Amino acid sequence: MPADIVLVTGGAGFIGSNFVLQWLSAETSAVINLDKLTYAGNPSNLTAATSDPRYRFLQGDICDREFIAELLITHRPRAIVHFAAESHVDRSIHGPDDFIRTNVSGTFSLLEEARAYWSGLTGDQRHRFRFLHVSTDEVYGSLGPTDPAFTETTGYAPNSPYSASKAASDHLVRAYFHTYGLPVVTTNCSNNYGPFQFPEKLIPLVILHAISGKAIPVYGDGQNVRDWLYVADHCDAIRMVLRQGRIGETYNIGGRNELKNLDVVNTICAALDEFRPNDPVVPHRGLIKFVTDRPGHDRRYAMDTRKIESELGWRPRETFETGIHKTVRWYLDNEAWAQGVTSGNYRQWMAKQYSL
Ligand code: NAD
Ligand code: DAU
Repeated sequence: MPADIVLVTGGAGFIGSNFVLQWLSAETSAVINLDKLTYAGNPSNLTAATSDPRYRFLQGDICDREFIAELLITHRPRAIVHFAAESHVDRSIHGPDDFIRTNVSGTFSLLEEARAYWSGLTGDQRHRFRFLHVSTDEVYGSLGPTDPAFTETTGYAPNSPYSASKAASDHLVRAYFHTYGLPVVTTNCSNNYGPFQFPEKLIPLVILHAISGKAIPVYGDGQNVRDWLYVADHCDAIRMVLRQGRIGETYNIGGRNELKNLDVVNTICAALDEFRPNDPVVPHRGLIKFVTDRPGHDRRYAMDTRKIESELGWRPRETFETGIHKTVRWYLDNEAWAQGVTSGNYRQWMAKQYSL
């Protein structure tokens, strides 16, 4: 393994695997991917990385402090990019335990071991070290239709067990900077979409249901608003924050793409009408089914991204139109991937959540 190493946690998940692949093609340093491989982690996302001598996968749990301590001492990374989390709001409603364990206790364990490791560094290694914590816009709560977008100084008001666990982790990260001086930086991003997203989330679920003629479940009235960002743009932003972000700061990341869920679903259906005119049900929107709303469903998220734009010069490259077309195409071209992840456990989840 080369000497210049970045440790990524949760790199076998959706955003983490996109990040690792982008990192290896855009940067020179090596990557160690530490992932527990929960239902959401899929090593096959990283097939393209396995032939790169700068890539190494280690299966492990961020809650396992001994394992983390040894990993840090052995590999001496110059940064930790922390994605590992339980990430699905609906699952957090059915069973919050894993969310508290991984998102809160796991982040705490990682911070403690990062602090011990960083305290032992000297000179340039100590100066360069960064702990980048990847978080979400959901920590800020829910907006009314005309409220201004969330800024980095908006008060935290998490509404789901998932967002509460992420908020707790953000607070711990902040405290480790203020109390111990650990060189942290936090990013809060809006909804990502793109390749390798697990089909429990809205966009891949809609694509896969639509092409197989299954009902497309839309919660409530379908008027909830999310801001959507293509995953590669999020990964670009994280690399930029890691390189140039100010220590102790938080950066909002978003696509300036506020859309109602029903509009997202209709856009996907229209793209599929074009790509798949011979599917079981066409037009695909005929499959839309309004179902019981998510408890405590946040109405609207919107991100004010002026800080990262003006300080670091980041801008998303994809519009929602270009990004969603790439995404739909990717799922159509990678049906084997989707089949691989929608096995036993997934079916159990779908039955529990949608009473299928
Ligand atoms: P994901 O659920 O697809 O992947 C999570 C990964 O973490 C999986 O590979 C899983 O195996 C791993 N993991 C879970 N528990 C672990 C543990 N205890 N130890 C080690 N690895 C563990 O999640 P994602 O959508 O890629 O999100 C990644 C991060 O980005 C999360 O922190 C999430 O809160 C944040 N985020 C996600 C979005 C989004 O739209 N998906 C938006 C903003 C922020
Ligand atoms: O905002 C960032 C967050 O985005 C991340 O922090 C989370 O990790 C990520 O999962 C995502 O959370 P959401 O709850 O917004 O994403 P999800 O894809 O689950 O749902 C998007 C919207 O679509 C939401 O308003 C709920 C709705 N929805 C979702 C599903 C799965 C439906 O109407 N039907 C569905 O079947």
